[in-house]
Amino acid sequence: MSDPIDLASPPVASRAKTLKAETRETHERLDHSIMAGRPFESQERYALFLAVQHAFHRDIDALYANPTLDGLLPDLAGRRRFGDVEQDLADLGIAAPQADAPPAFGATADIPTALGWLYVAEGSNMGAAFLIKAAGKIGLSEDFGARHLAGAPEGRGLHWRTFTEALDALELDDAEEARMIDGAHAAFARVQGLVTHVFA
Ligand code: HEM
Repeated sequence: MSDPIDLASPPVASRAKTLKAETRETHERLDHSIMAGRPFESQERYALFLAVQHAFHRDIDALYANPTLDGLLPDLAGRRRFGDVEQDLADLGIAAPQADAPPAFGATADIPTALGWLYVAEGSNMGAAFLIKAAGKIGLSEDFGARHLAGAPEGRGLHWRTFTEALDALELDDAEEARMIDGAHAAFARVQGLVTHVFA
C-alpha cells in the first residue's frame, strides 16, 4: 500500500518560484536603480557597476568553498564569479575597490540563509544575458571586461535549471525556509544599498 498523503506538510512546488515571487518587487526596484545609473553609457560608468558586483561577489565568495553547500548544490565551485569580476576590473585597468567591511560570509554560514543569497547570485546570471548585450556596445565581452556576465558553457537556462532543481529538492523545515527567504531579501537589500551608494 502506498503511504498516505501527508496533507499537513505538502511538498514545496518550487522553492525557486517562491523566491522569485517573494523578491519580484525588490528585483524590479534594483533593475530600475541600476539602469538609472546608466552603467552601459561608457566604460567609466560601467566601472561603477563593476564596483557593485565586486562588493556583492566578495560577500558571498566563501560560500563557493563551503563543504556543506557543496554537498547540496551541483557544480558549486564552478558557479563562483568573484574571480571573473576581479579579472574584469583588471581588464579595464581598475584597482579593486577598497572593502568597507568584512565579507557577509566567512568560513562558516547558516546554510538556509546562504541558499537565499546564492539564489540571488545565480539568478542574476539570467538577467546578465541582457546586460552582456548592452556591455557589447561599449566594447566589452565575455573575454574582456564583462567576463562575470558570461553564460555557462552548457547554456544559462540549463545552468539555472540544475541549480533550481537542486534547491527545490532540499528538505527544509518551516524555520529554515523562512531563513532562506530572509537570505534572498538580505542579498537584494545589500546590492540595492551598494547601487544607491556607488551610483549616487
Ligand atoms: C539592470 C539590471 C538587471 C536587469 C535588467 C535584470 C533582468 C533580469 C531578467 C530579464 C531576468 C529573467 C531572466 C529569465 O527568466 O530568462 C532576471 C532574473 C533574475 N535576476 Fe535580474 N536583472 C538585473 C540585475 C540583477 C541583479 C543585480 C540581481 C542580483 C544581484 C538580479 C537577480 C535576479 C534573480 C535572482 C533572477 C531570477 C529570478 C527567477 O527566475 O527566480 N538581477 N533578471
